[in-house]
Amino acid sequence: MRQHPLDPSSEVYLAHPTARVGGTIAIPGDKSVSHRALLLGAVAEGSTVISGFLRSEDCLRTLAALRALGVPIDDHGAQLNVTGVGPGGLTEPMAPLDLGNSGTSMRLLMGLLAAQPFDSVLTGDESLRQRPMERVAEPLRTMGAQITTDQGRAPVHIRGTTPLRAVDVTLPVASAQLKSAILLAALWADGRTTVKSPAPSRDHTERMLLTMGVPLQQESDDIVSVTGPATLTGTAIEIPGDFSAAAFFIVAGLLGATDGLLLPAVGINPTRTGLLTILNNMGGRIELRNKRQCGAEPVADIYVEQSELHGVEVGAELVALSIDELPVLFIAATGAEGRTVVTGAEELRHKESDRLAVMAAGLRALGVSVDEQPDGLTIEAGQLLGGRVDSHGDHRIAMAFAIASLRALEPIEILGTDQIGTSFPDFLTTAALSGLRLEATTGTRHD
Ligand code: S3P
Repeated sequence: MRQHPLDPSSEVYLAHPTARVGGTIAIPGDKSVSHRALLLGAVAEGSTVISGFLRSEDCLRTLAALRALGVPIDDHGAQLNVTGVGPGGLTEPMAPLDLGNSGTSMRLLMGLLAAQPFDSVLTGDESLRQRPMERVAEPLRTMGAQITTDQGRAPVHIRGTTPLRAVDVTLPVASAQLKSAILLAALWADGRTTVKSPAPSRDHTERMLLTMGVPLQQESDDIVSVTGPATLTGTAIEIPGDFSAAAFFIVAGLLGATDGLLLPAVGINPTRTGLLTILNNMGGRIELRNKRQCGAEPVADIYVEQSELHGVEVGAELVALSIDELPVLFIAATGAEGRTVVTGAEELRHKESDRLAVMAAGLRALGVSVDEQPDGLTIEAGQLLGGRVDSHGDHRIAMAFAIASLRALEPIEILGTDQIGTSFPDFLTTAALSGLRLEATTGTRHD
């Protein structure tokens, strides 16, 4: 298992057992859409006004990187004004760009920067420097990009190359970050670039490029083409609520919302909502109310009620559409009668931590029977005791175990919760409003 050693001063949550949650819970802006609004706005002609921006550490890394590339961004809190510099307007950064914990920032910037007439270096924190970057570099090289990784990982050195070649690429994994990196590079390539994925993945980049006037063809669920060179036109972008943040409270609601729980204005892009299909199959009572559009993205108010869940089998197709939600699905599975089997999820081993190994270890520490396979987990329903779990500095694992307090007999001590701010800065307050009882302390390990 990849190790993320815990700093002795890092934050710990004590999640006290709770039986009920409820109320109306505001969900923060979508992380993926926030990154893309900044990146596309930066290279557009004219200004882009972003509202509902997610002020998480990851998105602020993208913002800082773009400023270092010469993009003027006025920051008014939830609203940002990006003065697009146009396709030829980015300038060489004075220093390596530090993307912190953010895989999306690094991978999308690799595509954008590969096509610029200057060199750049991308780096990140210990977790990000352990994640695979060759999978992005390789297809970009077929376009003529000059990229070097450090044994497949960051720091990534990019020698700016213009113009790039338009290509037909078949991706080895269904990854929106990988697909988006190529689509971004293709904006500066001469001709039509086609990206084929083994399965559909989130399509926020495609939707936003179309909104900004780029000739893009979605040929099927898993094939997309873009013709370059292309000029983007700045626009107003309203960011929907983040389905991946909502997922924690959807599961919380299924476990404990005896009087219902409402999550207003959450993005329900079908390339993101595989978890809804899975939870519906498990018997979850979830309603999508007041469906509407938020710019290019569909949104709804999500209403959830405590439900009797039963175990299901989840395969690769649904995994790709629920990739960030699987940690909290594993928590739901502990309360679902029978057995839940997830396969085709090898990608989870390459996220902010090895999410299969770290979730299996955490669930076992709480008394759950889990079988770990190379590409998934089998979880038997059962009572959670209490105990100590180590999130390995992974924000989604830390939040998933906070939700587990709805099923626990004793407090759960969650180590390494510091990174929650990378995606959900107000998680503690939001959780408290829902009825969860989380206490943040600065922890020392008592191993
Ligand atoms: C993201 C894509 C997914 C997801 C990540 C955000 C994006 O990663 O896990 O949290 O914004 O494009 P992969 O593309 O590696 O699957």
